[in-house]
Amino acid sequence: MDRHPHSEKEKKYLIDAIDAFNRKLLIIAPDYTILACNNVAMEGHTESIIGRPCYDIILGGGDGPCANCPAKEVLKTGNASLRYDHCYDLAVSPDMLCLYSYPVHRDGEVDALVMLDFDLQALKNIEERRLRSNGFLRNLIHSAVDGVIASDLTGKIIIFNEAASQMTGYTVKEALNDITIRDVYVGDGAREVMRMLLSHEHGGEGKLISYHIDGKNKNGDVVPISLNASVVYENGNKVATIGFFHDRRDEIRMQKELEKTQVQLLQAEKMASMGKMAAGVAHQLNNPLSGIILFTKLVMEEYGLPEDARKDLERVLDDAKRAKDIVKELLEFARQTSHDMKPQNINEIISRTVFLLENQSIFHNIDIRKHLDERVPMIFGDAQQLSHVFMNIILNAADALSGRGQLTIQTSLSADNKTVCVEISDTGHGIPADVIPHIFEPFYTTKEQGKGTGLGLSIVYGIVESHGGRIRAESETGCGTTFFMEFPAAKSGNGGGQIG
Ligand SMILES: Nc1ncnc2c1ncn2[C@@H]1O[C@H](COP(=O)(O)OP(=O)(O)OP(=O)(O)O)[C@@H](O)[C@H]1O
Ligand SMILES: [Mg+2]
Repeated sequence: MDRHPHSEKEKKYLIDAIDAFNRKLLIIAPDYTILACNNVAMEGHTESIIGRPCYDIILGGGDGPCANCPAKEVLKTGNASLRYDHCYDLAVSPDMLCLYSYPVHRDGEVDALVMLDFDLQALKNIEERRLRSNGFLRNLIHSAVDGVIASDLTGKIIIFNEAASQMTGYTVKEALNDITIRDVYVGDGAREVMRMLLSHEHGGEGKLISYHIDGKNKNGDVVPISLNASVVYENGNKVATIGFFHDRRDEIRMQKELEKTQVQLLQAEKMASMGKMAAGVAHQLNNPLSGIILFTKLVMEEYGLPEDARKDLERVLDDAKRAKDIVKELLEFARQTSHDMKPQNINEIISRTVFLLENQSIFHNIDIRKHLDERVPMIFGDAQQLSHVFMNIILNAADALSGRGQLTIQTSLSADNKTVCVEISDTGHGIPADVIPHIFEPFYTTKEQGKGTGLGLSIVYGIVESHGGRIRAESETGCGTTFFMEFPAAKSGNGGGQIG
């Protein structure tokens, strides 16, 4: 730029303006001798400072230029220099003025340097604010609930917060030094995310919103995540990517629980309506069956019957009695029979049931293991019926084991001490997934005709329900089956719990 010729009047104003400037201003030669100064710089000096080295007039000045003098930088680079990093250094004397320096060129050479001081306190405040806001941002990222991971374009991780550390198992130091963004995804996940980020279809270019992808932790386990990510631009150039990682494991677990509860609810509804139907049919059958039994007995007693006819009537009587037993079981399922409810020790009931069964020949090659927790409290119930529950489940297990394998019976107390849990598992042939939803239905059986009525588990279900409990089965075909039962612990003091 061409020099603007100053008129005398202009020059006078310029000098006045420099003098009115309320900070110290010096003009020095490249050898640090003072060429000119404003009025404020003269304050405190009785003799003229012109011609003296600038470091001479500084409070505590030494033999040569100060160690961090900005003029040195100007002489080296030809550019203005701010001794910024020392401005907030309290060791710097507030009297020192060599904070900002810029060159005055003549014929392409540095002819002189202007030295200015600044309001130290103001600079210090700016710096403090900068540090504070940086610290605040850092805190914000580190205390975020979601994992925050930023990486540069080579994949090097540059931000990794606490939540990311918890989710992945890497320490912040490990993440910043030892791994890249590619290590926190399964397979080619990082590339996939980058591709999505660069396309328009997932929240706009440079953005990816609520994208479900599999992350990978330090142990190599898969962590399903929901990812919000964006590209970071600086002056229009892509410089990094930042991602907010939300761990979906809890959400998925809750979803599964909910689905399971819904299935149980449906099952309970279905069983309740079947119970009503079974009770209706049973009552309808009860009267004619009683009639058949009564009149058959009468005929058998009152007439001198030939032997053949008597034998036939005995068969009628036997079959009618069997039908009556089935009706009785149906009523049991529909909870229409009276019970003798009192506090019961479930471990004792299980032991007695196992004792009755284990000597039967079908159990000879079955390894029965009991893990009965002594601490389980009493439950309120009918000993006979509870025994019936365990007997039915154990007999089914024996059938599934075809006489050989392992049967495990375990009791335990829930963490909140309110529920007694019973688990009965076998290593038998298991139940196919499409059969499980039906096993508690009355008359559902996979056994050949004459081997099973399909009433066993429906009665079990009815009894467990009437004890305020719950039952469900889990199975893997070829591996075995486990029945899980829960009964409310009887409240101590009144000797009984709530009955459903
Ligand atoms: N431990 C088990 N392993 C494999 N399948 C089982 C097991 N327990 C029950 N089942 C399946 O559930 C079905 C229903 O059982 P449930 O006890 O209600 O009837 P059942 O045993 O067939 O006849 P019963 O009325 O004589 O008991 C069985 O037919 C069988 O397919
Ligand atoms: Mg059975």
